Amino acid sequence: MTRFTATLLALVALFTSYTLAVSPLVVKGSDFVNTVDGTRFQIIGVAYQPGGSSGFNPGSGLDPLSDASICLRDAVLMQKLGVNAIRVYNLDPDLDHTQCASIFNAAGIYMILDVNSPLPDQSLDRTQPWNSYSMDYLQRVFKVVEDFMQFNNTLGFFSGNEVINEDSVPEVPSYIRAVTRDIKDYISAQSKRSIPVGYSAADVRPLLMGTFNYLSCGLSNDTSSKIDFFGLNSYSWCGDATFQSSGYDVLVSDFSNTTIPIFFSEYGCNLVTPRNFSEVPVLYSSQMTPVFSGGLIYEYSEEVNNYGLVNLNDNGTVSILADYNNLQARYDALDVTTLEQANVTATSLTAPTCNVNLLAGSNFTDSFDLPARPSGVDALISSGVSGNTTGATSVSSTQPTQTVYDTNGNALSGLKLNVLAWDQSNLPGNNTSGTTTQSPSGSTTSTTSSSTATKTNAAARVDDIKLGTLVMGALSVGLYMQL
Ligand SMILES: *[C@@H]1O[C@H](CO)[C@@H](O)[C@H](O)[C@H]1NC(C)=O
Ligand SMILES: *[C@@H]1O[C@H](CO)[C@@H](O)[C@H](O)[C@H]1NC(C)=O
Ligand SMILES: *[C@@H]1O[C@H](CO)[C@@H](O)[C@H](O)[C@H]1NC(C)=O
Ligand SMILES: *[C@@H]1O[C@H](CO)[C@@H](O)[C@H](O)[C@H]1NC(C)=O
Ligand SMILES: *[C@@H]1O[C@H](CO)[C@@H](O)[C@H](O)[C@H]1NC(C)=O
Ligand SMILES: *[C@@H]1O[C@H](CO)[C@@H](O)[C@H](O)[C@H]1NC(C)=O
Ligand SMILES: *[C@@H]1O[C@H](CO)[C@@H](O)[C@H](O)[C@H]1NC(C)=O
Ligand SMILES: *[C@@H]1O[C@H](CO)[C@@H](O)[C@H](O)[C@H]1NC(C)=O
Ligand SMILES: *[C@@H]1O[C@H](CO)[C@@H](O)[C@H](O)[C@H]1NC(C)=O
Ligand SMILES: *[C@@H]1O[C@H](CO)[C@@H](O)[C@H](O)[C@H]1NC(C)=O
Repeated sequence: MTRFTATLLALVALFTSYTLAVSPLVVKGSDFVNTVDGTRFQIIGVAYQPGGSSGFNPGSGLDPLSDASICLRDAVLMQKLGVNAIRVYNLDPDLDHTQCASIFNAAGIYMILDVNSPLPDQSLDRTQPWNSYSMDYLQRVFKVVEDFMQFNNTLGFFSGNEVINEDSVPEVPSYIRAVTRDIKDYISAQSKRSIPVGYSAADVRPLLMGTFNYLSCGLSNDTSSKIDFFGLNSYSWCGDATFQSSGYDVLVSDFSNTTIPIFFSEYGCNLVTPRNFSEVPVLYSSQMTPVFSGGLIYEYSEEVNNYGLVNLNDNGTVSILADYNNLQARYDALDVTTLEQANVTATSLTAPTCNVNLLAGSNFTDSFDLPARPSGVDALISSGVSGNTTGATSVSSTQPTQTVYDTNGNALSGLKLNVLAWDQSNLPGNNTSGTTTQSPSGSTTSTTSSSTATKTNAAARVDDIKLGTLVMGALSVGLYMQL
C-alpha cells in the first residue's frame, strides 16, 4: 500500500464513525448477553500468551497484544480454529494495543484481560495483601483498564488470578473484593460502557465454594465489590474421562445456584497427548450449559509446559499441531444455534445477600468489612489515568506475511483475515481461509468423529474433511486463482 492510501485511510478512520464486528456484551443474571440482538454468548476460547508467563518483559516493548503482524497471523489461525474469545494474562499498559485489539475485533474475537502481572507489586500478595494493595498497584490496574475499555470486544477484566489457595491468608478474599470494587468504580466513572469484572480461581476444591460465595454475593453497603463473573481454572478432565469421573458433575451441582456467569478460565488437561478434547462436546451440552458459559482452552502457543495448539517457530512461521486439528473438529461439531438461545429464567437471577453462612470453605475471613482505598485512589478514579490507545480502527492489511505449516509440514495458502460485519462474532464451522498447497501425505486433520447428536452448520465442514486429496488440491488451486 502506498503511503498516500495509508494516510487517506487514516483520515477516513478519523472522520468516520465505524461500527465494527463484535457488539458489546453485558452480564444479565447467570448469562453473558449480546446487547444488540439479545442472544446468549458462550465462550469458545483459548488462552493467548505467546512466550509464556515468564516471557513477560515490559522493557522489551512487546507484549501479546502489541505487534500487529503477530496478532494478524494468530487471529487468522484462531478464526479458522473457531474461537470467539481469548484470554490474555500479562499486559504492559505503556504499549499501544490499538492495532491488535482492532484485529481481534474484526476477526469477531472478544478479549478477557488480566489486569495483573507476575512482576513484583503488580498483583496482590496472598500472604500480605495489605502491603500490595497500594496506589501504585491500582494505578497500573487502571491503566490496563483505561487501555482496553475503548474496545467493544473487551468482554471483561479479571481482577485476580488464583490469588486464593492453600497458602493465602484469610483476609485475601476481602482484598479481591476491594480490587474488584475499585476497577468497577473506575469503569463507571471513566468508560462509555459498563464492562464486566470477574475473578479466576484455581481448582482447589476445599476452598472453591467459599471463594465463589464470598465474591459473588451482594453487599448493600459496597455494591460494586461483587464480581460479575467467575472463571475456574480446571484440569480435572484428562484423556478418557467422563462427566462423572472428571468431577464436572460435582462442579455443575455445586454451582447450580449461580447468579452470575461461570466458565472455565483455563481447561484442557495434557496428561494424555495428543489431546483429543473429549470434554468439549460435554461442556457445550445440556448437561453443563445451564450452569457454564463455555471456557478457554489452555493454550494457543506451545510453551515449555506443553499445552500448545500451535508451535510459534523462532523464524516467525507457525506449525499447526495435532491438538489444533483435534480441537477444531470438536468445535465444528457444536450446535451454535442452541448455544446462543436466550434463557429468561437465567437472565433474571439476582445475587443472594452476603451472609457468613455462605462461606462453606475453611480459612476464610468471616468479615464483609472491605479494606478502604489507599489514599489518592479516589482521585485516580475521578480524574482518570492516561492511556496509550485511542479505540478501534479499521484493519487495513488482512493477509499474514508469515508462513503457516500444517501437521505434515506443508505450507498453507490463502490465509486471510475474514473481516466480519457489525454484530458478528466468530463461530466454529464458519468457513475461513487457508488450504494446503501440496497433497497431504497422511491424515492432515485428525478426524475426531464426534458423536454429538446435534449438528447444524458443522455438517458441511465435517464433509469437507472427508474429501479426498484430489478435491483438496483442486480447492486450493481455485483459491489461488481468486487471489
Ligand atoms: C461499539 O458499540 C456501540 C454500541 O453498540 C456502537 O454504537 C459503536 O458504534 C461500536 N463501536 C465500534 C467501533 O464498533
Ligand atoms: C504511554 O503513555 C505513557 C504515559 O501514560 C508514556 O509515558 C509512554 O511513553 C507511552 N508509550 C507509548 C508507546 O506511547
Ligand atoms: C487452613 O489453614 C491451615 C493453617 O494455616 C492449614 O493447615 C490448612 O491446610 C488450611 N486449609 C485449607 C483447606 O486450605
Ligand atoms: C478420543 O478419546 C476417546 C477417549 O479416550 C477415544 O475413545 C477416542 O477414540 C479418541 N478419538 C480420537 C480421534 O483419538
Ligand atoms: C441451591 O438452593 C437451594 C434452595 O435455596 C438449596 O436448597 C440448595 O442447597 C442450594 N444448592 C447448593 C449447591 O448450594
Ligand atoms: C522456520 O522454522 C521452522 C521450524 O524450525 C522450519 O520448519 C521452517 O522450515 C523454517 N522456515 C523458514 C522459511 O525458514
Ligand atoms: C435456564 O436457566 C435456568 C436458571 O439458571 C436453568 O435452571 C435452566 O436449566 C435453563 N434452561 C436451559 C434450557 O438451559
Ligand atoms: C457492610 O455489610 C456487611 C454485611 O452486612 C457487614 O458485615 C459490614 O460490616 C458492613 N460494612 C460496613 C463498613 O459497615
Ligand atoms: C458463521 O456461522 C453462523 C452459524 O452457522 C452463521 O449464522 C454466520 O452467518 C456465519 N458467518 C459467516 C461469516 O460465515
Ligand atoms: C466456504 O468456502 C468455500 C470455498 O472458499 C466457498 O465456496 C463457500 O461459499 C464458503 N462457505 C461459507 C458458508 O462461507
